[in-house]
Amino acid sequence: MSDSRLSTVLNLMKERVSLSRLVKQDVVLQKKGREFVGHCPFHNEKTGSFFVNDDKGTFYCFGCGASGDIIEYLMRKRGIQFMQAVEVLSEISGIKIPEKIDNNNDVFLSHEKILQKTLEFFKSSFPLNHEATAYCEKRGITRELIEKFSIGYAPKDGSLLLNHLKKSGFSVNDIINSGVFAERDGRIISRFRDRIIFPVFNKKGWPIAFGGRGIKKDAIPKYINSPETEIFQKRETLYNYNMALKNISKTVSFILVEGYMDVIMMSKFGYNTAIASMGTAFSSQHLAKLWKYSNNPIICLDGDDAGYNAMIKIALLALPYLQPGKSLRFCKIPGNDDPDSFLKTYGKSEMDKLLSSPENLIDFLWGYFFKEFNSLKEKTPENIVQWKKGVLEHIEEIQNADIKSLYRQNIRERIFALIGRNGRSKQFDKSASNFLTHVDKNEKNLLREAALLYILIMHPSVILNVIEELTVIEFLDEDFEQLRRFMAENPESVDFSGFNATLARIKKMVSKFFSCESMSDMEAVDFWQSIFDFGISKGRIEKDLKTAKDECESSLNTSTWDRLKALKLDFLGRRNKR
Ligand code: UTP
Ligand code: MN
Repeated sequence: MSDSRLSTVLNLMKERVSLSRLVKQDVVLQKKGREFVGHCPFHNEKTGSFFVNDDKGTFYCFGCGASGDIIEYLMRKRGIQFMQAVEVLSEISGIKIPEKIDNNNDVFLSHEKILQKTLEFFKSSFPLNHEATAYCEKRGITRELIEKFSIGYAPKDGSLLLNHLKKSGFSVNDIINSGVFAERDGRIISRFRDRIIFPVFNKKGWPIAFGGRGIKKDAIPKYINSPETEIFQKRETLYNYNMALKNISKTVSFILVEGYMDVIMMSKFGYNTAIASMGTAFSSQHLAKLWKYSNNPIICLDGDDAGYNAMIKIALLALPYLQPGKSLRFCKIPGNDDPDSFLKTYGKSEMDKLLSSPENLIDFLWGYFFKEFNSLKEKTPENIVQWKKGVLEHIEEIQNADIKSLYRQNIRERIFALIGRNGRSKQFDKSASNFLTHVDKNEKNLLREAALLYILIMHPSVILNVIEELTVIEFLDEDFEQLRRFMAENPESVDFSGFNATLARIKKMVSKFFSCESMSDMEAVDFWQSIFDFGISKGRIEKDLKTAKDECESSLNTSTWDRLKALKLDFLGRRNKR
């Protein structure tokens, strides 16, 4: 698809029309240096933070983040689609839009033109059909919304549209390729018959697909969507993305909901950043599209079990892609409502409450893991360990090393608070206490230090997991201390070649007691922790710790959790001073 022709014409139009002159029709602008400043036409404000730069042909609001060029200004200010904005600009500038349909590399590839014509046809059919208008009225879709979302109606008789398109000069082949029609037994039939039409637009505001909802109560299927075509891939497309992204700002994120109706109702109640994946699971491509404009999108699917399970799927899907600052938040609609029915039943104030306190990804996931734990049929060691293994395997999918390390640590702490260290692999547990209890006092410290280093030498990727502990402790042995410091300062290095002599010494000391070659990384972390904790004096703080753990176990919430965490840090600090 090439839009070079359109962009050439557009550039000509933009050169002819000054953006500031157009904006001045809506708000007062004052010249400040090379720019114009005024009150933002897109949000209420007392001070002017809206800037227009005629040299660049762009606007930007430092208040709400609205930005773009003259086309975007028109689309947003007038609530129109891309092509309509081009038409307005064509009128103002006096430059005509080329009308020619040309399959060779022109903007108006017949595919796009067919969808555009089809959209117009559906839109103009809507007000003529009583059932369609009555249906929308019943569901609270106002005229404004019908206009805003270009909602249409596909008549029962599919041949009307077919003839309309044929008359406009499109070939039957092109008409079928557009996805609006299907060929069955040599006949060409419209996919959309007697349905309310929700057009799907790409980022530029071009229609690329349609969703059609049956009007009859038990229409089967409830929705029909366009099939995938050259310009419509479900994994890449989000309903309402083009309009939503214009409303994204530092404080306003995307809100992912399940369906067309949810997006439309959210908009009715003032949530203009709702989007939905249509008839397909949320994909990593969808995620990338959200993160491009919004660091922390909110996932707010239907309140039923299916919706919750889909939210969990999204949470797990996001793990490999987490990046500094980029995450997801989750909002669970109570009961079996979806955003549409929730808004209708409880109103905007309740929705505001829900959306103002979404759960972080890590808390949402932990909630799920916790639920899984609770639903273990029997809390046998085998089942608990299997559960724990499953949890940690999910965390291992995080690709960003720093984020993974903090997730591991945080989730481990929660597991610890939940089940104590009992879920640990028994084999290594024994050897840890064994070899340390049975050596003589002076040797004990040295051996402990050697063991801690040895595990990290054999499992260098574990260093990131224990980096906090490794940073706060100090080793008595000078060589060991040097290696410890190197590891703490270069947690991602696996090259210890500068420490060959020390390595040999460590190996010799430790190999009498254990080998950790057969350990998994996860077991190595546990083993390391058990040696690290070994022999720490029992005192008041340990009692406090035990109480805090019990509290967490009986009621895990932020305050019991913070208390446990504070005590643990204190605990670490003290053992270091010994
Ligand atoms: P829902 O059944 O929750 O639809 O499916 P909805 O948007 O809330 O619509 P109403 O309120 O029942 O009218 C969620 C989404 O799943 C897709 C559609 O994209 C729908 O919006 N879907 C659903 C289909 O593609 N086909 C179907 O048959 C049903
Ligand atoms: Mn629904």
